[in-house]
Amino acid sequence: MVNWLIGKLQFRTLSREVTLTYEHLTTVVNVPVRAKVLFYSIYLAAFATLVVSLIMEPALPWLEVALFMLLIFIADSFAIQLPKKASISVSFAIIFAMTVLFGPWVTSLASLITVVNFSDLRNKIPWYKMVFNGGNYVVSAFVSGYVYMLAGGAIGKVTAANFPYIIIPLSLSCTVFFITNTSLITLAIAFIYDEPVFNTWRYNFQWLTPNYYALGVLGFILSQLYVSSGPASIILLVVPLLIARQTFSVYMNLKSAYVDTVSALVQALEAKDPYTRGHSERVAKYAELTAKELKLPDDKIETLRYAALLHDIGKIGIARRILNKPGRLTNEEFKQIQAHPGLGAEIIGDIDFLKEAIPAVYYHHERLNGTGYAEGLSGERIPLLARIMTVADSFDAMTSTRSYRPELSHEEAAEELMACSGSQFDPRIVEAFIKAAGILLEDKKPNVKELQLRIAAEDTV
Ligand SMILES: [Fe+2]
Repeated sequence: MVNWLIGKLQFRTLSREVTLTYEHLTTVVNVPVRAKVLFYSIYLAAFATLVVSLIMEPALPWLEVALFMLLIFIADSFAIQLPKKASISVSFAIIFAMTVLFGPWVTSLASLITVVNFSDLRNKIPWYKMVFNGGNYVVSAFVSGYVYMLAGGAIGKVTAANFPYIIIPLSLSCTVFFITNTSLITLAIAFIYDEPVFNTWRYNFQWLTPNYYALGVLGFILSQLYVSSGPASIILLVVPLLIARQTFSVYMNLKSAYVDTVSALVQALEAKDPYTRGHSERVAKYAELTAKELKLPDDKIETLRYAALLHDIGKIGIARRILNKPGRLTNEEFKQIQAHPGLGAEIIGDIDFLKEAIPAVYYHHERLNGTGYAEGLSGERIPLLARIMTVADSFDAMTSTRSYRPELSHEEAAEELMACSGSQFDPRIVEAFIKAAGILLEDKKPNVKELQLRIAAEDTV
């Protein structure tokens, strides 16, 4: 089950906040109006669902409900953090088992336990988000359970006579839970952080789709084992559930291994070329800001970030005396330096997850008018990510000190970008970068000729 994790607001210590007040539960601060509307709507919908559930199912099987609530609590407490602002646990399997065993009313009541778990407490998630998560599960469990019932799904024991028809309500219910649960979290993230809705969903949750159905199958098996063998049967499901959790964990570990690989490469480059110290990270930051301003999807931004961190990695193959030479380079030396985009593309070409970043690395010295290198491409033939990198790279080069000239101020560098906009740089990207970086420009016309001279070719090697 998917949970919303990272909060901008954090309470100082958990111990000071153990007493929940009405305000803690309902005060949503510092978030855009549309996000507030979403939170309050979910609170209200969850409250209404709980009231209706209690009316419809006044005689709860308390002991069994408590056992399943405990299982949900344990599963959620071992949640795994997802790429962005969300977490995942295997508790959907347990909720799904409850849907089959008890129907929508009992399941939505039991889902209230998801308001609190050790994982959220450890991460100091603000109360209002925890309540939102709990409300999300109550609503999702109810809606999916109701769909299961409407579609004619059997409650309790599923007999041979129910097959194969039972597959329809089971898959419908699983799909509805997945869509409701992930959509509500996607909306919350998109509203708060002003990110495009579909990209947020795709980046965080698309990969989860098959896993959700696998958890659904596990949940169904759990329900039937429970009917035939009682609570002890849960033990049989512990291992498959642990394996499911491990799948999520492996996915996330892979992501952090990617970051480690990139960091190791950046460190190797920085050891050789002191100029790049901090440069790669800054270029990555500028490129990311620009890409967000251009509303690129998250996966493209991730690729751009890797490419920006590694854009000069090819310099590993260039002689140290040329890289660290004080003053201007001779033509021959400059030619050697010009080989670095090609070398960089070769180096990262052997690393599977960096394949997408190759064009941005290879073409990061191209110019819009075709006078750049490595291929002399022009206009839109230069890949978009490479065009973004060129702007970010040039800006950082101009605002860093070189032995042959002092650094330019941010405003001066931005003016130079504008002056070369259309010839060297893509005007749309320059505009987005300046907007995103929040650079205030003086309202004056720059002396184009002088400025273009100042962007010496060596500035951005
Ligand atoms: Fe470069």
